[in-house]
Amino acid sequence: MPTGRERVLSGMRPSGKLHLGNHLGALANWVRLQADYECFYFVANWHVLTTDAPRSGEAPGYTLEMMADWLGAGLDPERSTLFIQSLVPEHAELHLLFSMVTPVGWLERVPTYKEMVEQLGIESPSYGLLGYPLLQAADILMYKAHWVPVGADQVPHIELTREVARRFNHTWRPVFPEPDAKLTEIPKVPGTDGRKMSKSYDNAIYLSDTPEEITAKIKPMVTDPARKRRTDPGNPDVCPVFDLHRIFTPAGDREAAATGCRTAGIGCLDCKAVLLAHMLPPLAEIRERRQRFAEKPGRLVEILHEGTRRARTVASATMAEVRAAVNLVP
Ligand code: TRP
Ligand code: SF4
Repeated sequence: MPTGRERVLSGMRPSGKLHLGNHLGALANWVRLQADYECFYFVANWHVLTTDAPRSGEAPGYTLEMMADWLGAGLDPERSTLFIQSLVPEHAELHLLFSMVTPVGWLERVPTYKEMVEQLGIESPSYGLLGYPLLQAADILMYKAHWVPVGADQVPHIELTREVARRFNHTWRPVFPEPDAKLTEIPKVPGTDGRKMSKSYDNAIYLSDTPEEITAKIKPMVTDPARKRRTDPGNPDVCPVFDLHRIFTPAGDREAAATGCRTAGIGCLDCKAVLLAHMLPPLAEIRERRQRFAEKPGRLVEILHEGTRRARTVASATMAEVRAAVNLVP
């Protein structure tokens, strides 16, 4: 389905249900991009194996949870191609060919590799982990994507992708365009304890949470620590609840809450009630759509297979060009 629009591609590792940080940091942006680009979004399940091979059995369930979140948030399988990486084996073939023209030193210098090895305390990193960004390069270049919406931490992977494209084009013949990262301004999304929202901190609000669950998480949420009593004035600029106001509350009510906070005119529970009034309706809408999909796992699988078929059409065309360029077979 050539549309003349520029192509966007991005992927997410399936690690279970998505929280507000994942939504506002990536997914909401993916949803917006559908209006102007031909979008490919995929489940990066091979990438999970680079660190979690023994737990591969969690991938199917996590994939369905993530898919329900994607569709609940507004990804539209009619407009975007949603697919599963491991069902497009062409990615593996392209990764192999790229590996022949990629110096090991390039991969060893990628900051995420060093971080992974240190943070996870990996004694003997696998070949696959070292190759993580190269597999990502294959994911991107397979679709000749112009734009890759990712977080700032992924920018070195896009730079590597550009170098690999150049190296391939120079070694054989020009096949691949050089993609660019599409960085968008990402709001600060604190968890209920004031730290960055993260599944592993147990401080997250999930897209699957009911309004009651969200309310129960917001009520005890950490505020300006200096505001101990109702009569103490507070400072919204250091309050994680106010970071959520910046995301959900329109300017008028937000300014009123800030003033009320600074003058001790309102208490933190009042302030949180204002936040909830603005945050619950949009999240309820996502959750309800999400639940409708989550109840039909068969439909989710169907959507992924349909998308995978579309993705494979593009992938096989690219691989035909690639094989012709590499020219191995008489
Ligand atoms: N590395 C990405 C992440 O951790 C996931 C990913 C894999 C990806 N392949 C990709 C992102 C291709 C964009 C394009 O978030
Ligand atoms: Fe935070 Fe609102 Fe309490 Fe001020 S009133 S400290 S902004 S929760």
